[in-house]
Amino acid sequence: MLDTIISIGDTLKEIRETKGFHLQEVADKTSINYTSLSRIETGKRLPTKIQVQSLAEFYSYSENDLIRQLISDKIIYEVQNEDLGLEGFHLAEQKLKYGLNLFNDYKNQEKFQLQSRRYIGNKAKLTDWIMEIIESETEGNGTFIDIFSGTSIVAKSAMEKYKTIILNDILYSNNITYQAFYGTLKWNSSKLVELANEYNTLNPKSIRENYFSKNFGGKFYEKEISKQIGFIRQDIEKKKQNNELNSREYAILLTSLIYTIDRLANTVGHFDAYIKKPITKRPLNFRLIETSDFKGAKIYQEDANELARNIKGDIAYIDPPYNSRQYSRFYHIYENLVQWKKPKLYGVALKPEPENMSKYCTVEAKDTFKDLVENLDVKYLAVSYNNTYKSKSKSSANKIKYEEIVEILQNIGETKIFEQSHTFFNTGKTEFNDHKEFLFLTKKYDK
Ligand SMILES: C[S@@+](CC[C@H](N)C(=O)[O-])C[C@H]1O[C@@H](n2cnc3c(N)ncnc32)[C@H](O)[C@@H]1O
Repeated sequence: MLDTIISIGDTLKEIRETKGFHLQEVADKTSINYTSLSRIETGKRLPTKIQVQSLAEFYSYSENDLIRQLISDKIIYEVQNEDLGLEGFHLAEQKLKYGLNLFNDYKNQEKFQLQSRRYIGNKAKLTDWIMEIIESETEGNGTFIDIFSGTSIVAKSAMEKYKTIILNDILYSNNITYQAFYGTLKWNSSKLVELANEYNTLNPKSIRENYFSKNFGGKFYEKEISKQIGFIRQDIEKKKQNNELNSREYAILLTSLIYTIDRLANTVGHFDAYIKKPITKRPLNFRLIETSDFKGAKIYQEDANELARNIKGDIAYIDPPYNSRQYSRFYHIYENLVQWKKPKLYGVALKPEPENMSKYCTVEAKDTFKDLVENLDVKYLAVSYNNTYKSKSKSSANKIKYEEIVEILQNIGETKIFEQSHTFFNTGKTEFNDHKEFLFLTKKYDK
């Protein structure tokens, strides 16, 4: 690719030829010898600044133009000849932009926002719609329960209004993100910025193969990136064990690692399969997440139906999985990475033994849903639902039918139905021209 870039050598040759000089003539009139000049023009070496100045003077050509060319060639040379050249270049760009000191300051860093993560069924595009309905149909600003929080995008939006937010999800990799974003333990930002900088300057060539790279390298992640990921994960664990990180710092680093590698995965957004094509090499670019200042989060990692029996609130937002695709299987790599027990893996997609399997993805879904809504001690329920059950693909067919959900909700309270059309994730098998998103708003009858 770089062969097509005009270098200072090309420019000097072109000037000389346009002016009709022979190489020897130029060598004679400047202090540069013939061989050096020839090597400069053919791009075999770069001129010194003094040589550039004397050539500019001899040709009556803009010295600034040539110096600019020289500097850019030097940078390209460094970038091309170092494994981490491009990363170093981007880092330098940022240092220049923010200044060295500012750059090491968490406040001035480019950080990951909560929503900058791919997650199947996340409600990022629907959150405003959902919250507007809740705002106009319900009363109270005490406790909001997001019992299947996923990315926690809905919970985050509810933080603008409610004093307490209960977040829950069965996945380890979601729980760690809640601890990171909404934990209240003090954490040392300069320590983590320094670590992030360290991780960004790792040379994969000097990193040994590890659990992560052996299993996922060349499949879900490019080989060298996978070595970096495994190394960083191990380093975070080591620092935690040596008490160099408190639990919040540990959660922030793990969450930042998930967000960082999310963009580098060789997948369509989940880990059921990887794309069977050569993987483009990209820099790791480890970035920290932007934490939240909200102080009223209560964080759980429990089965929703069990938790429902032990909590109380004004409103529960309910967004379970509705088809047979298990989230713990979709996101097995993050589950593995967060737990870091290095389990034995099976099959083409390299999954561990199943765990945290949800009843909502089975034939028990309807009864489980009924049990949940009956046992939640709240005034209101806001239930998300979409009509994928019309789908032809079996794995994305809904386990609970629209009519069933309406009946269950109408039995426990006064239920209003809101609908909205939108496009959403599918693997190509399904056609959802009439795909709709529903929100059922139920005001529970007094017991
Ligand atoms: C449709 S997603 C929720 C998406 C979320 N509203 C968002 O905007 O990101 C469903 C979530 O429920 C979780 N889950 C599935 N079964 C569960 C259960 N029995 N108890 C708690 N969480 C469960 C899954 O891990 C998944 O994150």
